[in-house]
Amino acid sequence: MLLPDPPACAFASDNAAGAHPDIIEAIQRANHGHALAYGDDVHTRSCEQAFNELFGQPVTTLLALNGTGANVLAMGAALRTAEAVLCSEWSHINLDETGAPERILGTKLLTAPAPDGRLSPDAIDTAARDIGVMHHAQPGLVSITQATEWGTLYSTDDIAAICDRAHAHGMRVHLDGARLANAVAAAGKGPDGLRDMVVATGVDVVSFGGTKNGLLGAEAVVFINRDLAHRAIYLRKQVNQLASKMRFIAAQFSTYLEDDRWLTWAGHANDMALRLHHQAQQILGDQAGPAPQVNSVFPTLVPEIATPLRDWCFFWDWDRSTDRYRWMTAWDTTSDDVSRFCEGLAALAA
Ligand SMILES: Cc1ncc(COP(=O)(O)O)c(C=O)c1O
Repeated sequence: MLLPDPPACAFASDNAAGAHPDIIEAIQRANHGHALAYGDDVHTRSCEQAFNELFGQPVTTLLALNGTGANVLAMGAALRTAEAVLCSEWSHINLDETGAPERILGTKLLTAPAPDGRLSPDAIDTAARDIGVMHHAQPGLVSITQATEWGTLYSTDDIAAICDRAHAHGMRVHLDGARLANAVAAAGKGPDGLRDMVVATGVDVVSFGGTKNGLLGAEAVVFINRDLAHRAIYLRKQVNQLASKMRFIAAQFSTYLEDDRWLTWAGHANDMALRLHHQAQQILGDQAGPAPQVNSVFPTLVPEIATPLRDWCFFWDWDRSTDRYRWMTAWDTTSDDVSRFCEGLAALAA
């Protein structure tokens, strides 16, 4: 079958997108003379201040190199001796970090069923039954992902309920925010949405993503509960997340947070996912999956469509047992990319 040329931007992942030109410029601007290494520089100070402003209160921000490392650092700082992490069965820390938390932190992940990626507060009560039982791993930290690995969102009330339940059992709460920007953009309240979502709710520590939304490779661990950050700078070095040329990570984040670029770029990716879903629905009907809340669409595809479609324009499986796939948009996806992709889809579906 003759298909058009594939779109310039594929739908494999927001991770597959390049860095935004503004970020490359920010790195170039920071590439001037000498600056002390390991974060002892003006770029890092001003980036930390930008995070204080964003969160609306003093927070402790430790910049990191990648999302897995940021999660390991955040969780390691929040865990006490012999404690385990409660998370959803679909969480990235469980499925896609090669066991890094277990290996590096020596912790155990306690997974709870979460059909749409969201952990229920009841799972916390269930896990808490093991508290005080000497032979069982002691749940000490709840880790949730916003937006989830299934592109779903916790409401602010959901997060508050999770935090309340966890804190009532003496547990802390980590939020994997690799795509927190997409979730906050979807809430439509500007940066206030972030404060509602993670400060007012009681989240203790956030892995604040950047790489998936236009940065070159920069993540931040933000301690809202600053008591947990007490020895985190040492842990960051131990888990290999301390960059010597920190100024270049800091410069990326400062530009990212300035003028709400983080929200504009994530909002664009979300809009493109809506557009993609809308056009795909006209071809596939309900098989296009639910309308996206953030920047991913989860269609169900028969192999006769899925195989040639992704040979032409690559995307990932999401749940092989149910033939679900994931199409993901990014800050640089264009309407033309969406239309071109749907032209190919329509040709194969015909
Ligand atoms: C939800 C979530 N958390 C964490 C990560 C980890 O990021 P990295 O691949 O930079 O380690 C990813 C990456 O895909 C992710 O999707």
